[in-house]
Amino acid sequence: MRSKLKGDRAVITGAASGLGRSLALALAEEGWTVGIVDVNDAGARETLQMVERAGGRGGVFHADVTDAESVKAFTEHFFEDWGGVDLLVNNAGVLSMGSMGEIPLEDWDWVFDVNFMGTLYGCHEFIPRMRKQGWGHVLNIASVAGIISLADMSPYNATKAAVISLSETLRMELGPDNIGVTVACPIWFRTDLLSRMRYTEEWDREWAQSTFDYARVTSDEIARRIIKAIKKNRLYVVPQLSARLFWLLKRAAPEVFFGLFRLLNRVRVLRPLAKVLARLGLIQY
Ligand SMILES: NC(=O)c1ccc[n+]([C@@H]2O[C@H](COP(=O)([O-])OP(=O)(O)OC[C@H]3O[C@@H](n4cnc5c(N)ncnc54)[C@H](O)[C@@H]3O)[C@@H](O)[C@H]2O)c1
Repeated sequence: MRSKLKGDRAVITGAASGLGRSLALALAEEGWTVGIVDVNDAGARETLQMVERAGGRGGVFHADVTDAESVKAFTEHFFEDWGGVDLLVNNAGVLSMGSMGEIPLEDWDWVFDVNFMGTLYGCHEFIPRMRKQGWGHVLNIASVAGIISLADMSPYNATKAAVISLSETLRMELGPDNIGVTVACPIWFRTDLLSRMRYTEEWDREWAQSTFDYARVTSDEIARRIIKAIKKNRLYVVPQLSARLFWLLKRAAPEVFFGLFRLLNRVRVLRPLAKVLARLGLIQY
């Protein structure tokens, strides 16, 4: 397949573990140079070693994506060091679970700052420079949670919906600039995400853990599917079958979709059902 993706220099935020690391390795296997940005220095160095072993090259930059100045600093660093950047991946993300009024407002700020503002700062710094260079591609990692709005995950859902909306907007806006935009919307797969997760009820943690324990698709496989989609310059990539089915149902009949989940919740069946489906690996397939 002929790739519509130009160049071989990528910067990935949150690349010290999970999906960010898998994306870095998948690109390295194709000979890309990868900028690894994270707050976790040890993990970022480990990713760099793995990138080099996989045949790629790269560099590490310590930055917190919630700090606009730090994002500006790594943008300037990679553009100056490499003479340009072809692909930006806004991947750094965090998760909080709980019900409305129970989730502390500081957790809302935390999730918004990392998941949305971090993505926004990346776009704000990279896009004008990509415009000047005449091409580029932005990959934003959202989640199917931003489409189907899972219960007890309102901050996460709202940030991912905002990332999807931002990506759709940029997709149109950047048409004349030869800059592609892709938004990835995976459902649960096993990474380090739960090690930093904040939650208000033990059930939240247990349920999220069971989705990870019984996940069917690895982060490496998700990364391969996402890269395939950006090579085709797709706007959306929903890399698992279960997520695609949820997406279709929500689009086809939103009232029925949310009505059904509301009913299941009202008769207290939603949680046990969600747990059984997670243990069967059906939500993560
Ligand atoms: N794992 C899943 O089930 C799943 C599903 C859908 C979407 N996602 C999304 O995938 C992306 C990657 O998450 P993951 O699952 O690989 O989790 P992860 O925890 O393994 O990776 C997230 C990385 O982001 C880094 N990070 C967190 N806050 C940061 C900050 N302020 N500045 C810089 N780096 C920061 C972490 O150190 C970590 O290395 C996230 O956007 C997440 O929302 C994950």
